[in-house]
Amino acid sequence: MPDATMKDPQDALASFARDHRGIDSLVLGGRFKPAAERLADFKEFDRRLERHIRCEEDILFPALARRGEQWQNGPIRVMLEEHKDIRAHKAAALAALERGDLEMAARHEKILFPLLSHHNAKEEQVLYPACAALLETQDALLAAEKLANSENMEGTHEN
Ligand SMILES: [Fe+2]
Ligand SMILES: [Fe+2]
Repeated sequence: MPDATMKDPQDALASFARDHRGIDSLVLGGRFKPAAERLADFKEFDRRLERHIRCEEDILFPALARRGEQWQNGPIRVMLEEHKDIRAHKAAALAALERGDLEMAARHEKILFPLLSHHNAKEEQVLYPACAALLETQDALLAAEKLANSENMEGTHEN
């Protein structure tokens, strides 16, 4: 999350990698929990992951695309395709959990979690370092601030 010490793109991008860990932790060990708890955890996972993806698609990826067509036509296109698959499986898993179909939820989670883990690894190894190296400091900080502020706004909304 951005704070007073955050002053360069590297710090800003680190907040996206940290967000991956935080989102993952919401569903780790989920299958050992009672169904009602799993649903609550998965809803929070869904909300946080959606916010994360939106910040990437609305701010980070467009800023990187402006640094060269090769980014738009290569890694960004792949990440957008993967976001589509991630969204489809998380929506299907959530719908299954909501109707109490744990078997179907598990089937989608079995695809979703490895997909997300590979996706996050690619972002952390390729996309985020490229953003840290190429983005204007202002663009990177804006993306990190949106990530943090949308959480604050959603938190306020829920209280
Ligand atoms: Fe992503
Ligand atoms: Fe990400």
